Amino acid sequence: MNIADAITLLLEQHEEIRSLAKEAMSVLERTKENASTEDYELLLEKLITLKARLVEHGRKEEELIVPILQDMYHPQAEMARYVEDEHTHMEEELKEIKKHLREHILNKSERLEEVIYSKAKTFLTQTITHLFEEESGLFPMLKGFLSQVKK
Ligand SMILES: [Fe+2]
Ligand SMILES: [Fe+2]
Repeated sequence: MNIADAITLLLEQHEEIRSLAKEAMSVLERTKENASTEDYELLLEKLITLKARLVEHGRKEEELIVPILQDMYHPQAEMARYVEDEHTHMEEELKEIKKHLREHILNKSERLEEVIYSKAKTFLTQTITHLFEEESGLFPMLKGFLSQVKK
């Protein structure tokens, strides 16, 4: 796959992740006002779908982009590892939030604990920021690098 096609594919996945994150965010806001078990379940469902998309996307990104970064920054492996570490970190955060939500559902809690609310909000905001940073920084940089190499 050439880089332009790779980036188009990654951007399509970003679009999907972004709208899921926004949907999860609006359910999250609702649970803060007046939470019902249905809302927790809906939020959990959104987060499970988000997790699946993030994992799928993270792998694709690592497969398509890490080799280019390794070429660019050779022999500084840290740059390539940075992309992977950020993905791993996001997955771990999400896992913890889902665990807490499941507890809320089991205990039929009427209010979403403040720390969980903040954690989820931070996670969703960081996810959207992560997409933006790649779109405005990493992707254009890779395109630039590869067009130089070809010359
Ligand atoms: Fe990423
Ligand atoms: Fe990405």
